[in-house]
Amino acid sequence: EDGNYEPPCPVCGESLEAVAITEDVACDPRNVYAATKLHQEHLAFAFGAEHRSDVTALRFHNVYGPRMPQLTPYAGVASIFLSALAAGVAPNVFEDGGQTRDFVHVIDVAASVCAALTSEAPGNGAYNVASGEPRTVLDMATALANAVDPALAPAVVGGWREGDVRHVFASPKRLWDAFGCRPTVPFDVGVSELATAPLRVA
Ligand code: UD1
Repeated sequence: EDGNYEPPCPVCGESLEAVAITEDVACDPRNVYAATKLHQEHLAFAFGAEHRSDVTALRFHNVYGPRMPQLTPYAGVASIFLSALAAGVAPNVFEDGGQTRDFVHVIDVAASVCAALTSEAPGNGAYNVASGEPRTVLDMATALANAVDPALAPAVVGGWREGDVRHVFASPKRLWDAFGCRPTVPFDVGVSELATAPLRVA
């Protein structure tokens, strides 16, 4: 409420530095959405254990790209910003805009899925699907606004969404090492293409 959005250390109160986490860090879902995602993994791994099957769980980060659904809060912030810009409205950035996410292009996500499905050695466990280069939400809003109409500069409006996590990013190294895939679409290229990409009606 005082506009300081960085969570301090719960033990000593000092400031913290966000770092990319790996798949072996204990999961701590803080909201219903996260809990249901982890539940899906548990179901799949339980099935795998019962049927002696390997299970590859791909943890998609913030996917963006052409044919994102428009005008729905379920689509992700890139399409929310783009829908606003298309209507001639500046994007509304919550908090102070410094919250980070890993925006990964849909082409790279699809390639990761194909690599996991066709790999000779099956994966077993969870794998982060991410670009490896986290960005702030304000970065996304600014890049999109610049590509669509620089006059519609993002409005940083404060507030927050209940249950949101300040920084969400993780290391994709395990996926890269296991399946040999690497992101191919740089943020700047992906976002400037998104500016003119068709969105689908949800
Ligand atoms: C994801 C889910 C969300 C869920 C949340 C729980 C999707 C698309 N979103 O959000 O439903 O509640 O995990 O952790 O699956 N933002 C703005 N302006 C807007 C909309 C969003 O600044 O108009 C900010 C949000 O505060 C957030 C960031 O953009 O910090 C990203 O939001 P979103 O794209 O929904 O992704 P997640 O935070 O991963």
